[in-house]
Amino acid sequence: MSNLILVIGGTGMLGEPVARRLSADGYQVRIFTRHPDKARSKFGAEYEVVGGDVEDPPSLDAALAGCQAVHINLEGGLDPDLERRGAQNVAAAAAKAGVQRITYLSGTSVTKENSWYAGTKAKFEAEAAIRAASVPYTIFQATFFMETLPRFVRGARASILGSQPHPWHWVAADDYARMVSKAYATPAAANKTLHIFGPELWTLGQALQTYCRVARPGAKVSSVPFWMAALIASLSRDTELKAVLPFFRYSEKVVEEGDPAEANALLGAPTTTLAQWCNLQVGRQ
Ligand SMILES: NC(=O)c1ccc[n+]([C@@H]2O[C@H](COP(=O)([O-])OP(=O)(O)OC[C@H]3O[C@@H](n4cnc5c(N)ncnc54)[C@H](OP(=O)(O)O)[C@@H]3O)[C@@H](O)[C@H]2O)c1
Repeated sequence: MSNLILVIGGTGMLGEPVARRLSADGYQVRIFTRHPDKARSKFGAEYEVVGGDVEDPPSLDAALAGCQAVHINLEGGLDPDLERRGAQNVAAAAAKAGVQRITYLSGTSVTKENSWYAGTKAKFEAEAAIRAASVPYTIFQATFFMETLPRFVRGARASILGSQPHPWHWVAADDYARMVSKAYATPAAANKTLHIFGPELWTLGQALQTYCRVARPGAKVSSVPFWMAALIASLSRDTELKAVLPFFRYSEKVVEEGDPAEANALLGAPTTTLAQWCNLQVGRQ
């Protein structure tokens, strides 16, 4: 059987570590992207790059030819439903192509009850389409990634919207990528929804304090009430701030769901602590 894996969204923040880990583990990797030239300059010649769009089924059929498996790492931005439509198209194309495994990055709070939030609804329905595709699957319901932390810092200011009181088991993308890669070689990981939790529990404020102390000294962490953030977004026409507000209102209400024991037993538990990850960022600056 081929050992070729198609990585959809391999150019993404959480797709790239998966692509690189699969390659390091001896898989052939084919990156699927809307921007092949950009992807080629990011990955270099040892990675195959194909152009395509998850909204264009023929491009998926062509990209899946000869693939053993497909990994889905999708983010629709202002169009959260893209993730549902994309996963449905990928699942259908994967079944047609005779692919042996679909893996998909979902989120920790993805439940029917939380589907009042558009991003969660899209993921919930994407998961359902993957489970229905009659292709063995592994769905990763992952908690907050440490890689998200730099996004909260603008210059000397690290801002949290709302109070964000809930703790999360922050996970490093490299630990998750190792687990995705191992899932392909683990028959018992087929047809599972696995919960990916890192080793330590921190609120967003605590995690951001640690990140700033180690990697962004001088940056001050503060919490901005929702009403004030909405006012600033409107007065300054800050579309980025306006776009992230619904997510923060959502993450203030929901909690981590599930138990990581099965994922850890099958694929090896994440080990990177927040302090270790932050120190690695200093080395990379
Ligand atoms: N941040 C967290 O803590 C966290 C936790 C759990 C789950 N997640 C989930 O992880 C997922 C991935 O996040 P990320 O940070 O890697 O996102 P990202 O950096 O924005 O990457 C998104 C990827 O989606 C691809 N894409 C978008 N539209 C596409 C289309 N029409 N056709 C083909 N590819 C398309 C992009 O590829 P091209 O632009 O190259 O085409 C890009 O590689 C999201 O669903 C997010 O909700 C995140």
